[in-house]
Amino acid sequence: MRIDVVTLFPDFVRECAAVGVVGRAQQRKLLQVETWNPRDYTTDRHRTVDSSSYGGGPGMVMLIEPLRKTLEVVRNAAPEPAHVIYLSPQGARLTQGRVEALAKLPRIALLCGRYEGVDERLLAHEVDEELSIGDYVLSGGELAAAVIIDAVGRLQDGALNDAQSAEQDSFSDGLLDCPHYAKPVHDALGSVPEVLLSGDHAAIARWRHKQSLGRTWLRRPELLAQRALDAESRALLDEFRREYVTARN
Ligand code: ADE
Repeated sequence: MRIDVVTLFPDFVRECAAVGVVGRAQQRKLLQVETWNPRDYTTDRHRTVDSSSYGGGPGMVMLIEPLRKTLEVVRNAAPEPAHVIYLSPQGARLTQGRVEALAKLPRIALLCGRYEGVDERLLAHEVDEELSIGDYVLSGGELAAAVIIDAVGRLQDGALNDAQSAEQDSFSDGLLDCPHYAKPVHDALGSVPEVLLSGDHAAIARWRHKQSLGRTWLRRPELLAQRALDAESRALLDEFRREYVTARN
């Protein structure tokens, strides 16, 4: 997969994409991340990319022309059509489901705004989708782009060492992940739950599923409200609730 990023801070985006799982995915040629600076597509001496907002008010707005030229170069840089995403707090909230769909595309382009945003006409004509990474305001889209590169990059085939670990992630089935434990079995902070040491794979899977359901119920109940539980899951969640109430009394 190829990800093109239009940004005034290409070094930042490149450095984010060079580390960890995503950096390794790039080395393995599973993912290609390219950056493009709109300043390189200005024509004036000052390499202007923004101006004040019509109607007044604070903040600067990114100009149409440098972004239009940059996107033209981006689109022509590879044969695959680029799905262009603008990152802003006004976008649809990013979810794991959307990440999984984006990860299947051959190519996306991420447009990072700075200042007050981007001229609306450029967005209307050049952008396919607007995404937000959460209900808070960042000073630019670069961190959001880094989030998308990471979330999408790690899903590329061969990027994760253990192929199963993506399937077991939080949210991949609409639930939060279960707790995990490593050495030692007994520690001053507590012991590893007995069932995980039992070697009984069915019992372990059942326990993990119960913990996922329970955690989701405790921490993100709205996620449970959005999905229908089968009879087995409902029984497991009831069991978790009973144990939880007993432990608290
Ligand atoms: N740019 C500024 N804030 C943002 C957010 N919350 N998500 C995506 N892009 C942004």
